[in-house]
Amino acid sequence: MFIMASKGIALLSVFLVLVVPSQAQECPAAEDILPCSCNVDENNHVKLDCSDVTGEEELASIMAKEFPSNEVFSLMIQYNMNLKTLKTTTLADKIFTEIHIQAGGLESVDAGACLGSVSTLKKMDFRTNKLTVYPFDEIPQYTSLLQLRLGGNLFETFPHISSPTLEFLDLHGHDFGAIPDGALSDLPSLEILFIYRAGLTEIPFETFEGTTKLRDIDISYNQISRIEGLTMHGDDSYIIADHNQIVSSGLSANSFTGVKDYVSMWNNLVDVFDEATWRPLLEGGARLDITDNPLKCDCTIAWLVLNGTLMNQLAYEPTCSNGAPISMLDPSLFEDC
Ligand SMILES: *[C@@H]1O[C@H](CO)[C@@H](O)[C@H](O)[C@H]1NC(C)=O
Repeated sequence: MFIMASKGIALLSVFLVLVVPSQAQECPAAEDILPCSCNVDENNHVKLDCSDVTGEEELASIMAKEFPSNEVFSLMIQYNMNLKTLKTTTLADKIFTEIHIQAGGLESVDAGACLGSVSTLKKMDFRTNKLTVYPFDEIPQYTSLLQLRLGGNLFETFPHISSPTLEFLDLHGHDFGAIPDGALSDLPSLEILFIYRAGLTEIPFETFEGTTKLRDIDISYNQISRIEGLTMHGDDSYIIADHNQIVSSGLSANSFTGVKDYVSMWNNLVDVFDEATWRPLLEGGARLDITDNPLKCDCTIAWLVLNGTLMNQLAYEPTCSNGAPISMLDPSLFEDC
């Protein structure tokens, strides 16, 4: 009887070890990290918010304290104009999976500032600051990096970034003028690229050589007049190209390849709705927003007007240059084209 009971306890404890999830994570004591705050979310992630720090020194002194574990899931700092530099030593021995310092006054991320997290960091997000200094040459060292968001800063030239793992790159909101040859060619895992409002006047075909997984691209609000060969991959692929200066002669059958979901072309300068360019896209099932273009509704558009299936792929209500909605054109008038 006694033996049975102890066996039962032994079994029970094995059971408990199996069922109890990984050790519950803990925040540092609240008074140790003021003005930062910390919580452990439902995924057992320790999340630190230091939006109210008075500057680099205070942040560094908090990070230098002993935490229950050096591993912190995320650091968030938002709308903070006082933190201007992330120094090599600022984050001390703390190791992060995500760092978000957004919409503030950050001017410089010094060499090595985030290298403590070199094997854990998945998201590095320094959107909308005043960055001119950033250690681009360190990026290949991050072995888990998936997202790099540096849009809305003050970089003057489009950086060369190399990463075997990076899936999402955001460099919108700059005045780059051009993407140098090969700048994206060492990003074999790149799926999503945001380069809207980047002062771009062209995107040469070669730009995307090597990006064999590119799925979504946003090149809106540039001054691009031609698209030579954007090849997208995957089922929910889209191209956002509105607010450019794209003309009919800047497009061809190779302009948009593999787009399955959506192409936004509103507010461009397309006049001839050329069958060679657009039929493959619409037949592939993509929806197209071609509103706000000076479309000629002559015989060049007959192939579309005469096919209700393809007409249905048009989003919103595109109009001819004279203002008439394309959907209201009488197909019988195009039968003799
Ligand atoms: C419209 O185009 C689709 C796709 O190419 C084609 O399958 C269909 O037969 C066409 N319909 C007409 C009425 O021409």
